[in-house]
Amino acid sequence: MEKTFLMVKPDGVQRNLTGEIVQRFEKKGFKLVGAKLMQISNELAEQHYGEHKERPFFGELVDFITSGPVFAMVWEGEGVILTAREMMGKTNPAEAAPGTIRGDFAVTVGKNIIHGSDSAESAEREIGLFFNESELVSYDKQD
Ligand code: CMP
Repeated sequence: MEKTFLMVKPDGVQRNLTGEIVQRFEKKGFKLVGAKLMQISNELAEQHYGEHKERPFFGELVDFITSGPVFAMVWEGEGVILTAREMMGKTNPAEAAPGTIRGDFAVTVGKNIIHGSDSAESAEREIGLFFNESELVSYDKQD
């Protein structure tokens, strides 16, 4: 079954939005198969955001994501990668539709509350970066 990596960023954790965000994906019907509150190291941040290394905001991105705890999650379900991106809203919260997580709770692109994998390849890479196989659970869930 398809899996994606989602992460409540330090701003979302600080603003007590973790529960609300988890609830949105639970209520949608996706299955949580891994989760942990963690402090990201500089090394992990640079690996995670490697594709943005040449961007002018790379330093800012790494500083921000390592500035406080994040809530890292793996969610499973049919079409979860794309649907989670739609539920998150556009990267720039100013353009994110009301009803989406960023549309409802964020204002600036740097502090946009949540990260989600943008493709099957990213999902596999990011899940592998943040979780060991033994930290993911497999279970049946009633609809
Ligand atoms: P995320 O989905 O975590 O992936 C890359 C992040 O870069 C993105 O969310 C934004 O938070 C961040 N980002 C994109 N553009 C800018 C920008 N112009 N300035 C600062 N951060 C940015």
